[in-house]
Amino acid sequence: MANATFAKGLEGVVAGESGISLIDGEKGRLSYRGYSIEDLAAHSSYEEVVYLLLYGKLPTRYVFDEFSLRMRASRPLHPKVIRMIRDFPEGGKPMELLQSVMAYLSGYVEHRIEHSSTCNCRQTLHQVAQLATVAATYHRFKQGLDYLAPRADLSHGANFLYMLRGREPDADEGRIMDASFVLHAEHGFNASTFTARVVASTLSTCYCSIAAAIGALYGSLHGGANEKVFDMLESIGSVDKVEAWVGKAFEEAQKIMGMGHRIYKTKDPRSKIMEGFLEKLSEKTGRHEHLDMLRRIEELATPKFESKDKKIYPNVDYYSGSVYHLLGIPKYLFVPIFAIARIPGWLAHILEQREENRIFRPDSVYVGPEERAYAPIEERG
Ligand code: COA
Repeated sequence: MANATFAKGLEGVVAGESGISLIDGEKGRLSYRGYSIEDLAAHSSYEEVVYLLLYGKLPTRYVFDEFSLRMRASRPLHPKVIRMIRDFPEGGKPMELLQSVMAYLSGYVEHRIEHSSTCNCRQTLHQVAQLATVAATYHRFKQGLDYLAPRADLSHGANFLYMLRGREPDADEGRIMDASFVLHAEHGFNASTFTARVVASTLSTCYCSIAAAIGALYGSLHGGANEKVFDMLESIGSVDKVEAWVGKAFEEAQKIMGMGHRIYKTKDPRSKIMEGFLEKLSEKTGRHEHLDMLRRIEELATPKFESKDKKIYPNVDYYSGSVYHLLGIPKYLFVPIFAIARIPGWLAHILEQREENRIFRPDSVYVGPEERAYAPIEERG
């Protein structure tokens, strides 16, 4: 292994070139294809961001209208997919359902899909469009409700809330859901995206590559932190209990969920935008308890971390669960929302991987026994 380097968790190892997103962890900056996350979250719809990620540029009005029509037409589910959701075992978790449906979709879509290295995922868009319908349908069946057909006149975010609740959200709610999808659409070579690229590098289909990425995102070290922040707030209970809770957390060297990041050494720019959404929803609903607790935890924890020279600040998961909660979304859909939003990022990476593909095949340091004599089964002690 000449010139080989070893880093646990591949920390600091450059595993490829990418032109999709740029993260500056020191300055707390994130951009997709050169556009800042702040501009995209404030001015672009999720559909526009999907186009940007897949095609590398923002669409003109004419191009966008055609793209949006196509994406919206891909929202309804095939009856066999609806049946699969209905028949999914009760003990199954929604992320397992999403992963299974993604692999199943390739055979049960109206569109004709080519299973090849050049399969044009950009044209079909149903991977991007349908998982929101799958997650909403799962929720509806769990509530004993029927399948509700998606609406083509609503944005991706507003339609998702409409399918979940059976009534149209107001403009603020629809916009916040849509912008939350924008914030989660892409984030460089993280574990799930790397997984998608590894599977794509074998010339597997985009469906199998995305299904594998969903599996990687499912883990609590990756997509699951927003649920844990929610649990943390529920266990603290109220803002007057925060001070004692933070004191105990530091005494016991307990991790504060939703804080810290491998790359960001300052506040994650997405968490600042999420905080604004939570503020808006708290004002609208008159429910300030989560916002007050989160701000108080941050206010108390930040100087404690800084006094130890630790650069630990809120990440995107710190506020997102509370935003979804105020939008009426149950906790078991927090991680699936992350997956739904991330599909275009994964697809963009799969397409990029295929452009100048080389199969991923890293080496490992062998720490097993030395070569030894083989004994027939009767002679083994
Ligand atoms: N609360 C308290 N201490 C924290 C912390 C947190 N949220 N995150 C990191 N630290 C501390 C660790 O205890 C460790 O301290 P030590 O050096 O004294 O042992 C140090 O900071 C480095 O942490 P480590 O977990 O090794 O950093 P990492 O870069 O491998 O991990 C995360 C990054 C995100 C996994 C980590 O910050 C974390 O677990 N955060 C909470 C979960 C979370 O919000 N995940 C979502 C990420 S988007």
